[in-house]
Amino acid sequence: MICDILIVGGEGDLAYRKLYPALYHLDAAGCLSDCMRVVGIARNPAAADDFPGKVRSKFEHFHGSDELDERVWQRFSSRLQYYALDATSETDLRVLREQVFTSEKRDLIVYLATPPTIFAPICQSLWAVGLVRDNSRLVVEKPLGDSRESFLDINRSLTSIFREDQVYRIDHYLGKETVQNLLAMRFANALFEPLWNSHYIDHVQITVAETVGVEGRWDFYDEAGALRDMVQNHLLQLLCLAAMEPPARLDAQSVHDEKLKVLRCLKPMSKRDVRDNTVRGQYAAGAVKGKPVPGYLEEEGARHGSTTETFVAVKAEINNWRWAGVPFYLRTGKRMVKRFSEIIIQFNDVPHSIFGEQITSGAPNRLTIRLQPDEGIRLHLLNKVPGLDDSMPLESVALNLTLSDVFTHQHVPDAYERLFYDVIRANSTLFVPADQVEAAWEWVDKIIEGWKATNKKVVNYTAGSWGPAESIALIARDGRQWHE
Ligand code: BG6
Repeated sequence: MICDILIVGGEGDLAYRKLYPALYHLDAAGCLSDCMRVVGIARNPAAADDFPGKVRSKFEHFHGSDELDERVWQRFSSRLQYYALDATSETDLRVLREQVFTSEKRDLIVYLATPPTIFAPICQSLWAVGLVRDNSRLVVEKPLGDSRESFLDINRSLTSIFREDQVYRIDHYLGKETVQNLLAMRFANALFEPLWNSHYIDHVQITVAETVGVEGRWDFYDEAGALRDMVQNHLLQLLCLAAMEPPARLDAQSVHDEKLKVLRCLKPMSKRDVRDNTVRGQYAAGAVKGKPVPGYLEEEGARHGSTTETFVAVKAEINNWRWAGVPFYLRTGKRMVKRFSEIIIQFNDVPHSIFGEQITSGAPNRLTIRLQPDEGIRLHLLNKVPGLDDSMPLESVALNLTLSDVFTHQHVPDAYERLFYDVIRANSTLFVPADQVEAAWEWVDKIIEGWKATNKKVVNYTAGSWGPAESIALIARDGRQWHE
């Protein structure tokens, strides 16, 4: 497929850190057509001097020089172009239309790596100069609003110009290899599906723990907080993949339909649910990996007295036949003790124990799907401890599958590599349609409303810990515990 890529915000952190490197790797894998051009635009005129050189030095800074193959780099750098232009200005974009994207036969992918506040004028200008064609695609990513209403506003500004099927909304978690593997694990194996319901599953835990803090973007983060920044998108997308019905096919529409049904079945949180079943935390100074780190309110640029949450735990419920009565415990936080993302499926106890009380202390069978780091799958089983002891002592052991041990020579593509590749091929399966974003906001809005109505306080946790004690209490009240 012959297409060009236009990166608006082509001088920003996302572009240098993720987008150009992803395209370089696709070039290395032979996935870019020979004549594809990668055009960055931004307002900075200075970047025009040796733009490929700058892309290269940033690549080496973020990914190391070992990853660069000179031959591939020569090819890739010849695709790169930079123009110092204002993307909201018709006059500026007309230059691109008349001098760069002259052929209507080539598909055009426009990636908006800019704040959503300027999506509307950019889309207007693209349209006015004739860059919105049947074969144009638009890529955007979060934050798409801070509520259902603001999302709908932003979305209108996109879909009044582009058709819905031309808009690719990125949730980069969906591009992660192991997140896609969830689909394979669930629907390519007959083993799990019969057990994947409320008859056999006690509860599900989804944790995305980070060790990083706000990384120099305090102002942005403070407006959002962990619920909007992580739960509304990444965690709910993981929940959808874990909970959805088997789609009829692996095409975009079938997968999207099933995910949307899950979001629509999420039990809306009443004020009481919000009071009892959510926790808001904020990190105080502590130590992460042995190094002292400041608290959220002492980070650079912090505003005194902010009550934004950097940790959130929520008990969610899905009102449908498969999941009735099965809680989904979600939690995510910054500056936690270690970086890991996991989905844990906790199976029920055996209906009757012939091993006496050995089986009463927590159900033995647990499936852990580790998304990052060291992706893999672990199945916990009870096993007899070898020996002559008549009491038949049992011990929990794990069947452990670390994916990198099995697929030793496989290059694991970065999420953006996968997602770019899919946009190039116009495959939207791993993107998030507007109705899903809207449904996710609808559920999250209720929590935010409940926090306001109940004056839900943010509680402190020490940086480098597992989060606030209240999060342990949230799950302990149901007689369960986080698996760490
Ligand atoms: C982003 C959030 O969407 O995801 C960040 O805005 C967060 O706050 C990041 O750090 C986590 O992504 P990953 O891929 O590092 O788990």
